[in-house]
Amino acid sequence: MGAKWSPQSWRSKPVLQMPDYKDKAALSAVEEQLGTFPPLVFAGEARALKRQLADVAKGRSFLLHGGDCAESFAEHGADNIRDFFRVFLQMAVVLTFAGGCPVVKLGRIAGQFAKPRSDPNERQGDVELPSYRGDIVNAIGFTEEERMPDPRRQINAYRQSAATLNLLRAFAQGGYANLEHVHQWTLGFLKDSPISERYQELADQISGALNFMRSCGITSENTGQLRSTRFYTSHETLLLGYEEALTRIDSTSGEWYATSGHFLWVGDRTRQLDHGHIEFCRGIRNPIGVKCGPSLDEDELIRLLDVLNPEDEPGRMTLITRYGADQIEEHLPKHIRAVEREGRTVVWSCDPMHGNTVKAATGFKTRPFDRVLREVEAFFDVHEAEGTYAGGVHVEMTGQNVTECIGGARPISETDLSDRYHTHCDPRLNADQALELAFMIAERLKRSRNGKGMDAVPISA
Ligand code: PEP
Ligand code: CO
Repeated sequence: MGAKWSPQSWRSKPVLQMPDYKDKAALSAVEEQLGTFPPLVFAGEARALKRQLADVAKGRSFLLHGGDCAESFAEHGADNIRDFFRVFLQMAVVLTFAGGCPVVKLGRIAGQFAKPRSDPNERQGDVELPSYRGDIVNAIGFTEEERMPDPRRQINAYRQSAATLNLLRAFAQGGYANLEHVHQWTLGFLKDSPISERYQELADQISGALNFMRSCGITSENTGQLRSTRFYTSHETLLLGYEEALTRIDSTSGEWYATSGHFLWVGDRTRQLDHGHIEFCRGIRNPIGVKCGPSLDEDELIRLLDVLNPEDEPGRMTLITRYGADQIEEHLPKHIRAVEREGRTVVWSCDPMHGNTVKAATGFKTRPFDRVLREVEAFFDVHEAEGTYAGGVHVEMTGQNVTECIGGARPISETDLSDRYHTHCDPRLNADQALELAFMIAERLKRSRNGKGMDAVPISA
C-alpha cells in the first residue's frame, strides 16, 4: 500500500469478481463516456452522512441500511421505488419512536446492480454459461447472448440510478416523508396483518404527539425536521471501472469522492488487503463499509482499518458483520475485541441475511426469518456483553408482497415460496417481515437505552 493513490491505481492490483469483457474497446468507450456524465451525488452529502455515522459510532443514533439484493432494469418503476420507500420509512419511524433513537437512513438503492457470485459459471442440464452478475454486467436469461457481459449496460445502470435518486430525493424532501403522513405509508396488502395493527397503534401515538406539538405552535409548516428527512444511497463497490469513471475531485475540499452513491461497501469476497477493491476504497473520502464474515481474521481486520482509515476518522468505517445465526457468537466477540484493543472507531452493523441463506427442499434459495431474528438478537447480546454499541442493521428487503424468506408473523412456508419469488439474486424480507424486524430492534434499543426490560416499550404487541 503506501504508494500513490489515484482513481485508477486499483488497475495494477489483482481483482476478483470482475466480469471478463470481450470487447475491450467498447468497455473503454463506455468508461470514457461515464467520465463525462454528471456526478450522481454531491461530496458535501457524503460528508454529511459521515458526520451522521460518527454519531452512530458514538452510540447516539442507529443506522438503518436496506434495500434490494440487486436492482433490476425490468422492475425499474415509480411504484417499486415508492413502495420500498414507504416500508423503509415505516421501519425508521418504528425505530425512532418505539426505540427512542434517531435513525440514519441509508438505502441499498440507486446503484446496487453488480453482484459477486460463488461460481463464475452456471450449469443447467448440459449447458454451462457465465453466471448472472447483475443487470449492470449481463442479463439474467439463460442464453449465451444474455449472459455475455455487455459494457453498455453500465450506461443504463447510471441512468436508472439517476432517475431513482431523483425520485427518492423528491420523496424525502418534497412532502411524502412528512411525519403527518405516518398512517398513509402502510401498503394496501399489509392492512390485515398483525404487524400492521401494531404499526397503526404506533402511528396513532405519533399523530397524538404531533397534535399536541401543533397546539404548542410546532408544525410541519414551520419545522423542517417534521416535513422532510435525509435519505442516502449506497451499493457494493464491485465494478471498479464504473466507480473510477464516477470518482471526481470535490472542488470544496480538493479531495476525491466516489459520486456513484453516498456510501460504498466492499463485499466479503473482495476485501483482500492487497487487491484492487481495497486499493480503490482507500483513496476516496466517502464513508465506507466492509463486510466481515467468518473467514475474516482479526489481525487482518485491523490491517484493513489501518489501510482504509489510518487517521481513525469517526464515521468513515462501518463494519457490516454477516456470520450467520449459528456463527455470530463465535466470531463477533473476536472482531469486537480486536477493534477495542486497538482503540478504533467504527460503526458496528449487523447483516443478518448473508450468513443465513439456505436451499429449500423445493430448490428455492431462501432465508428462515427466525434465523434472521436470531442473528440480530445475538448481535445485541454480544455487544451488550462486550460493552460496545450495536449500531445498525443491513437488510435485503422490498416493498413488494414477495414470498422469498420463510417464516414471519404472517408465515411463509416452503411451499409458498413459488407464489411470488421475484428476486434477481438473494431472497429479501417482504414488508411484513421487515416491519416485524424493526419492532424487535426497537425493543432492544429501548431496553439498552433505558437499561430496563421489555415493558419499557410504549406499544402494545
Ligand atoms: C450482498 O450484500 O449482496 C453480498 C453479496 O454480501 P456479502 O459480500 O456479505 O456476501
Ligand atoms: Co445479497
